[in-house]
Amino acid sequence: MGGGIAQVLVKSGYSALLHDVAEKFLAKAADRIGKGLGRDVEKGRMTAEEREQALGRLKTTTDLVAVAKADFIIEAVIEHFEAKAGVFKELESHARPEVIFASNTSSISISKLAAETKRPAQFLGLHFFNPVPVMKLVEVVPGLETTPEAAETAVALASSLGKTPIRVNDYPGFVSNRVLMPMINEAVFCVMEGVADTSAVDGVMKLGMNHPMGPLELADLIGLDVCLDIMRVLYEGFHDSKYRPCPLLEKMVAAGRLGRKTGRGFYEYAEKKA
Ligand code: 3HC
Repeated sequence: MGGGIAQVLVKSGYSALLHDVAEKFLAKAADRIGKGLGRDVEKGRMTAEEREQALGRLKTTTDLVAVAKADFIIEAVIEHFEAKAGVFKELESHARPEVIFASNTSSISISKLAAETKRPAQFLGLHFFNPVPVMKLVEVVPGLETTPEAAETAVALASSLGKTPIRVNDYPGFVSNRVLMPMINEAVFCVMEGVADTSAVDGVMKLGMNHPMGPLELADLIGLDVCLDIMRVLYEGFHDSKYRPCPLLEKMVAAGRLGRKTGRGFYEYAEKKA
């Protein structure tokens, strides 16, 4: 998602510095961004020259020291509290004190992440949706200590990216994943219990509810590991058994069937085609 966020930033005229732990991930992201903007040229949404200028605004780095120049920082590392908190602690020592930290977390407490930094007043959730270049929504999630000014800045940034920001409060899963993930989890229960097979479950939701993708197809797009992490956050956050992760979801993640990114989830993917 970090690459998708960088793509919409440079397309909207911002300079973006994309950080990752290894060059190979950055090269892959830069390639996807180049192709994504190439698609915009093909579709007449930008000129070839504008694409070149946008790509010129994209820089990549494996060195977090480089964030000293950043005016706004968006974190999009894996959905584990310790991993995110570790990144923010490191960022704290390089970023200027007035800079806002935003997390693209899907469900983790913003207030708890903010407490790991020295700037809880300038910390919030900025939650993008997959695929980032296409989806309109950004959930803006102020934590308990976030100032109204920081929230306003985040809303303005999301709007300037052509997205529609919606403010929600900081509770597990916010609104999006509190509603979406139990639906996906229930779809997995349907498969596990033999109510219907994968394509039938997805077919019911696509044809009966007009969802663009079935819940299992969508789980493959999001990543089954991410879905499981979010269910665990909901379960631990609300202490309510209705959020228990489906054992089949746990088994598939344990087996390494994570969806599109590993070529196999509820569906099999050859060259990214289901
Ligand atoms: N990356 C970038 N662009 C993509 C893409 C991808 N993975 N998949 C599709 N697109 C683009 C296509 O290139 C096409 O753009 P175009 O205007 O250049 O032609 C456009 O999206 C439409 O694609 P298609 O015509 O091929 O297919 P669809 O009309 O079925 O749209 C879809 C694809 C937009 C992915 C649609 O199926 C959809 O909306 N699915 C639901 C997605 C969803 O629910 N996302 C939210 C997930 S939850 C989340 O992210 C939160 C997190 O916290 C878990």
